[in-house]
Amino acid sequence: MNAADTFRSRFNRSPAGVWSAPGRVNLIGEHTDYNGGYVLPFAIDLRTQAAVARRDDGRVRVLSVQRGGDAVEFAIEDLKPHAGSGWAGYAVGVVWALRDKGFDVDGLDIVLDGHVPNGAGLSSSAALECAVGLAALELSGIALPLEDLARIAQYAENEYVGVPCGLMDQMAVSVCRADHALFFDVRDDVREHEPFAPDDDGLAVLVINTRAQHAHAGGAYAERRKSCEAAAKQLGVAYLRDVARSELDAALRTLDDDVLRRRARHVITENDRVLTTVDLLRNGRLSEIGPLLTASHESLRDDFEVSAPELDTAVDAALASGALGARMTGGGFGGSAIALINTGDVDPVQRAVAAAFEREGFVAPQFLSPKASAGVVRES
Ligand code: GLA
Repeated sequence: MNAADTFRSRFNRSPAGVWSAPGRVNLIGEHTDYNGGYVLPFAIDLRTQAAVARRDDGRVRVLSVQRGGDAVEFAIEDLKPHAGSGWAGYAVGVVWALRDKGFDVDGLDIVLDGHVPNGAGLSSSAALECAVGLAALELSGIALPLEDLARIAQYAENEYVGVPCGLMDQMAVSVCRADHALFFDVRDDVREHEPFAPDDDGLAVLVINTRAQHAHAGGAYAERRKSCEAAAKQLGVAYLRDVARSELDAALRTLDDDVLRRRARHVITENDRVLTTVDLLRNGRLSEIGPLLTASHESLRDDFEVSAPELDTAVDAALASGALGARMTGGGFGGSAIALINTGDVDPVQRAVAAAFEREGFVAPQFLSPKASAGVVRES
């Protein structure tokens, strides 16, 4: 049953509407967003639907089609930052965040139907936050630019769920357009929609969901963020983004710690790789971005140390079997890798990656070939 049917059968009334938001794949620009840097994600054609109706008794009820079971129910007066509250926390966290920012949002009944795989590094949480956030705003008669919705969703994740993420995922999920990637300059808050249709060039971006999720991911993310902030402080800049590629050597000489040097080198070179990638895209040279993707992976693996054996295996096997470039995507420590592949080579690459996973004794990976899709919308 879909979200609307489940809503009717479980809540004995009709939803006021159905909203949906996509997952995202980041093409390049990893661990740069919280450094004020550049990212280049696109939204994918896997979405989370939210069937929603207002309540006027100050309560929020959330049900999930996938999880089944009883609705999780809260009084909105009782919602407190850092309350977490499991999977439902992403939904009620947005209600909390909207109210904390002064928006007059009342109770809601919510049924979620999620088709973005969880824990795959494809932003299933941002999809959930933004679908519920747009529903809550519209049902409260509040018109807000989608980039502001993205910020509120990030605020919910930072302050309610307690994950210190950057803004990339929520922004991609909110404002992306079909057949475009989003070039987002986080520090300057500038967004450009870059035409992105690999099909037209005989290319495909294959997503390899490794299904691996390493337990230390949350703490390590926060720790990477702290190291970047410490490096920026030593360099006397607000963000590592403020250090240009041409200033890399001087910056590395200034930093007094090898770990900070490697973290900073990743961020500074990664920002530069995003700019080069965007330049190639703008010149119709998508087939040439492969080496940049692979260099990004090496930097994330060796300098930023956020890869995982499953991700390295996926990248190595893809490259050895004909991919033009490959890298982990998202926060790392598991989740997904992407590979840029000539359309005719997709099958051999998939077979090679699957065989490598079997050899290593890893769980079989899931392959996805997502299309660049639109951000959050009201569907009905
Ligand atoms: C996660 C975070 C993002 C970003 C990426 C790494 O997806 O939610 O804000 O930092 O990791 O690029």
